[in-house]
Amino acid sequence: MDLAGHIAVGRTGELGALGSGRLPKPFNDHMHRVIEPALALPAGSAILDAGCGAGGVARWLAEQGAHHVLGADVELPLSAATGGPVPVHGGGTVELRRCDLLDLSTDRPYDAVLLLGVLHYAGSAEGVHRMLGAADRLAVPGAPLALSWICDEITLTYEEAFLPGRELVLGTLAALGREPVDLWARDVRHAHGGSPEHEHRIVYGVWRRAR
Ligand SMILES: C[S@@+](CC[C@H](N)C(=O)[O-])C[C@H]1O[C@@H](n2cnc3c(N)ncnc32)[C@H](O)[C@@H]1O
Repeated sequence: MDLAGHIAVGRTGELGALGSGRLPKPFNDHMHRVIEPALALPAGSAILDAGCGAGGVARWLAEQGAHHVLGADVELPLSAATGGPVPVHGGGTVELRRCDLLDLSTDRPYDAVLLLGVLHYAGSAEGVHRMLGAADRLAVPGAPLALSWICDEITLTYEEAFLPGRELVLGTLAALGREPVDLWARDVRHAHGGSPEHEHRIVYGVWRRAR
């Protein structure tokens, strides 16, 4: 399980054991809640998963919603890049591309934008403004913008890190004309990569344009 709290997901075929007729739920409840508005869009919707990691969420949304999903990650291994949209079971497509969210073209905005576990990579308040501004520009006016990030309400004691505060993120989104339609947080305690055990507060939310 990673910071965002979800388990690795393979292709739909590997999820068959979850039962026929039921939507497979390979992630934890928080991840499902935050991606639900994107999943619920009409089949064929265009979704951007910015900072997609290995692309498990992107692929799942493409398969379960028959959506066209671009998973973009600045650190995507080149071997994982798909080189264009790839059809998946169910009629959707998934493309995994190595690129920076800030460099994506806004020519064809997306019906939903996900920025999950990414804002705490921004490095500064200015970086958060840039990321959220890009995510907003990449979304059509009615699109849900789904976020999760490690916030500053629990201090990281074992290393230096910029953790965005709620006020910064909510204030930036409000200035972009976005209001939260769902907002919650959870605390996780874990150790990884040789770090001592520590706690994070992860904030989750979905924003829509208010104007
Ligand atoms: C903690 S991982 C989260 C991955 C996935 N969204 C999830 O929820 O499991 C954060 C990812 O954001 C990517 N990332 C950070 N800044 C980025 C940027 N400016 N553009 C694209 N990807 C970025 C990192 O490379 C990393 O893979």
